[in-house]
Amino acid sequence: MRILLAGANGMLARAVRKTLSGEHKLFLTDVGEMNILKPEEIRRVCDLTEPELILNCAAYTQVDKAEEDEAFARKLNAEGPANLARECAARKIPLVHISTDFVFFGDGSHPMKEDDPASPRGVYAVTKREGELEIEKSGCEYLIVRTAWLYGVGGKNFPLTMLNLAKDRDLLTVVSDQVGSPTFTNDLAWALKNLIAAGARGFVHFTNDSAGGISWYDLACATVEEARKLGLLPAGKKVEVKPVSTSEFPRPAPRPAFSVLCLEKFTRLTGLKPPEWREALVRYLKEL
Ligand SMILES: NC(=O)c1ccc[n+]([C@@H]2O[C@H](COP(=O)([O-])OP(=O)(O)OC[C@H]3O[C@@H](n4cnc5c(N)ncnc54)[C@H](OP(=O)(O)O)[C@@H]3O)[C@@H](O)[C@H]2O)c1
Repeated sequence: MRILLAGANGMLARAVRKTLSGEHKLFLTDVGEMNILKPEEIRRVCDLTEPELILNCAAYTQVDKAEEDEAFARKLNAEGPANLARECAARKIPLVHISTDFVFFGDGSHPMKEDDPASPRGVYAVTKREGELEIEKSGCEYLIVRTAWLYGVGGKNFPLTMLNLAKDRDLLTVVSDQVGSPTFTNDLAWALKNLIAAGARGFVHFTNDSAGGISWYDLACATVEEARKLGLLPAGKKVEVKPVSTSEFPRPAPRPAFSVLCLEKFTRLTGLKPPEWREALVRYLKEL
């Protein structure tokens, strides 16, 4: 299939390029080649490449910075996807788009299903939800894959930050009252490949399997333990990881306290089980 990739230099897109290029003809564009805020540029690139599907990895992803950059976050997370969706509708081709667990309020206690009500808080979350709604109302065929706690090669992410801090510091304080599921970009790219092959449409949730959720503190502890086993920390380096509450670690943007995503629909559509989170983390650390 001829796939036009938007935001092709981002962290997720790097894994997508590796995973999809064997089976599909990929046209790689980032803001320099196809600015998703410019409908005429999207049309021109589509005329040139004649895609059968557009995959959007472009977004405004800096959650805290978005609080003071609302207009631009809205442009990238809502207006950009709307532009892509309108072009897809006109060409009668599907749009595959990535969204986030942050669309949920975070006061649940069961893994969130695709049709559970969204109730985003904070600029990033609200504008990502607006992007979903824009795509829905465009009339194009779409697949929106919500994911969470994304990390991978080629981008700033939580396990990498923990690894770098652990090399320098003796103590890491990490919040233990926010529960979710991490996602390795390689595994999300694999999921996208299989969802595209299955012709999946609508909303689908995908993360690594964390059997009901883990906290950022759990993820930090696992990163330090697995990094030590792999020799990524200096020999004998002592690091204590200390759990703290969200109120002790205030951030500009609110985060959901519980945002575990239900993975049943992914398995129903593809017949596949998402890889387990800790094993995925080890694969990431080995790839670094
Ligand atoms: N990171 C997470 O923890 C997380 C969690 C859940 C969901 N997600 C979602 O997953 C998706 C991928 O995230 P990511 O972390 O891989 O993102 P990322 O690394 O920030 O990549 C986004 C890419 O989009 C490009 N871009 C920015 N403005 C553009 C424009 N106007 N036109 C075209 N491209 C543009 C960026 O270029 P520049 O770098 O030059 O700006 C960058 O290459 C996003 O939809 C995000 O919301 C992420």
